[in-house]
Amino acid sequence: MALTDTTKPAPPRHIAIIMDGNGRWAKKRGLPRTAGHAAGAESFRRIANYCRTLGVEYLTVYAFSTENWKRSADEVAGIMRLLRRYLEEALQDMEKNKVRFRFFGDLSKLSPDLQKLCHDAENRSTDYDVQVNFCLNYGGRDEIVQAARRFAQEVAAGERQPEELTEELLGGYLYSANVPDPELIIRPSGELRTSNFLLWQSAYSEYVFMNVLWPDFGPEDLDKAIEEYHRRNRRFGGT
Ligand code: FPP
Repeated sequence: MALTDTTKPAPPRHIAIIMDGNGRWAKKRGLPRTAGHAAGAESFRRIANYCRTLGVEYLTVYAFSTENWKRSADEVAGIMRLLRRYLEEALQDMEKNKVRFRFFGDLSKLSPDLQKLCHDAENRSTDYDVQVNFCLNYGGRDEIVQAARRFAQEVAAGERQPEELTEELLGGYLYSANVPDPELIIRPSGELRTSNFLLWQSAYSEYVFMNVLWPDFGPEDLDKAIEEYHRRNRRFGGT
């Protein structure tokens, strides 16, 4: 069981984070961008642990977008190396950490060894407190396109009728099938954009934008974001 603090209101079930600002964090220190990503990976470890302590059920993080391939080969290799190292460790400690993993994105473009680590992590079912969804080679538009394509293929094969398509049915073709939509999406680093992250799932999410760079983002910043979320009046289009 996760440890929950009964003096605080329950945290959102699902928190999603755009882990932004690693490059600027490194630049401020005269370090290569990869050092910023390494510090970002540490920040992720801290926050994933803290989410588990708080009793958050789902944590979704934007680790690599469909657009991030435009970065230098060195930087891309650096991020992939960090992911590989993290997953190798996570596979060892999965039972102890009570975490399970899912991956949102087109993994076929990743190296075969990283694909295998992702599949192994996903397929190892365990008793878990928190599910981490890694968005890897992920784009919100791309996700909707691949869902539409799969539905169209089933229509073409005579397995479905076009009129059957509903929001719920389409949701089942997304990478996030069976995962509730995030109540809270956090973007640190001061940028005010959604950057193709969870376009479908964020229809009614509360966004909290913060001025801290991701490698500096700590449990106290997550607390602040959750407090801000609790101050919001969520109406879902009603009054
Ligand atoms: C955005 O910051 C960050 C990324 C594109 C990569 C995120 C990857 C990690 C935190 C490491 C992944 C590994 C694990 C284990 C989670 P940016 O580079 O765009 O920063 P900038 O806007 O300051 O340049």
